Amino acid sequence: MAKAKIVFYCTECGNETPKWQGRCSACGAWNTIIEQPSTDAKKKAIDGVTTGIRHIPRPITEIEATDELRFHTGMNELDRVLGGGAVHGSLVLVGGAPGIGKSTLMLQICDNLCRFSKVLYVSGEESERQIKLRAQRLGVQSDALYLLSETNLEDIIAVVEQIKPDILIVDSIQTVYNGDSGASPGSVAQIKECTMTLMHLAKGMGVTVFVVGHINKEGSLAGPKVLEHMVDCVLHFEGEEHNSYRILRAAKNRFGATNEIGVFEMGDQGLSEVPNPSEALLSGRPKDTPGSCVTCVMEGVRPVLAEIQALLTPSGYGTSRRSSNGFDYNRAMMILAVLEKRGGLMVSNCDFYVNVIGGLTVSEPAADLSLIIALASSFRDRPVPYDLAAIGEVGLTGELRAVHALNQRLSEVRRLGFTKCLIPAKNSGKLITPEGLDLIKVSNIRQAIAVIV
Ligand code: TYD
Ligand code: MG
Repeated sequence: MAKAKIVFYCTECGNETPKWQGRCSACGAWNTIIEQPSTDAKKKAIDGVTTGIRHIPRPITEIEATDELRFHTGMNELDRVLGGGAVHGSLVLVGGAPGIGKSTLMLQICDNLCRFSKVLYVSGEESERQIKLRAQRLGVQSDALYLLSETNLEDIIAVVEQIKPDILIVDSIQTVYNGDSGASPGSVAQIKECTMTLMHLAKGMGVTVFVVGHINKEGSLAGPKVLEHMVDCVLHFEGEEHNSYRILRAAKNRFGATNEIGVFEMGDQGLSEVPNPSEALLSGRPKDTPGSCVTCVMEGVRPVLAEIQALLTPSGYGTSRRSSNGFDYNRAMMILAVLEKRGGLMVSNCDFYVNVIGGLTVSEPAADLSLIIALASSFRDRPVPYDLAAIGEVGLTGELRAVHALNQRLSEVRRLGFTKCLIPAKNSGKLITPEGLDLIKVSNIRQAIAVIV
């Protein structure tokens, strides 16, 4: 008899090795390698759900593609992140920190989904009664919504085959397990196997599957990276602890772009959409206070206004403290250096804090200029005009560079009531100035600081 093959997995990154090691050679984590007997049961479970259809290659021209592939989830913000609605027969993985609102989002979309399809909501974390109570609070009530509190994958599959739902929601892949496999629930092997089975279910039976996944302390989905490779879409639900805004981001999408975000607000009635994120993010902006400047960043095709705050204070001790929240730290350091060398402000012996309001993460160079202005304003202790926004990329010589989609940004800036906007003097393409918006063109940061603060 052949010897049972044993493989070792890293619980952090999912890397497989033939022998045990103290440290994972792929991700460098210590003490994360665990033993996993590779079973044939895996194969059986997967074969059990394939439909037995033999696939033969066909010319691309003979394959019909209809437009009705997508359906609306009832949440425009979710549809936007998915690329214009969910695709029939796809598998969407929704990851996020505990308590961020993953279960709430899933239960809330059921309300709309039940109008045209049968939905099976499987939870391994809450009892049917608990889900019912939550559904009542969210106002979700329908005969087409089936609840099941179950963790055994085979039983889940059996129920799916019996009631034939159009949409299956599995609340937390980490709680589901396959009894045939020896591995414990939540382990890398189990997650991999269960996702694979659900994927076959999606593709074989045409069921659209939404899977909730937990994230680990690094912020990536708990489980192996291969999980993300397997599924069609990976969405990350993010937000800050003391903030009611939640941002949904696509990390991977086989059916659309990944640079869109969806913005929600958590309230008593669950999640509500924030169709106008700029307005929400700017609410409560202080007037006539130094160290704050508004910019406009592109999130996908949507311009979003963000408030960048900076604080410079003299360092008490020899070394200065520097921290950045929501703005890339290295980029902020570069801007600080440029400000000192090219802007002529002696900021190097100051403590330095940067914050982007509303839990937004700004990664676009177009926000550079507003950070420069916020820093200069804080340094000189003079406020930036309340109705001014700044857009532009800063280079190492202190020059201002053109940014893309400037016209779209300018119209968003104007729409929110701003009357002045600082922009780079040189711009590519034709500039369309919105009515009522005063454009201040500057070519370097020294000029920009001189004009504003
Ligand atoms: P939940 O969806 O259970 O989070 P997850 O599944 O991601 O762990 O959301 C739980 C949090 O949301 C909890 O802290 C309470 C809050 N919440 C509200 O504020 N309002 C509501 O209507 C609901 C249902 C939850
Ligand atoms: Mg939950």
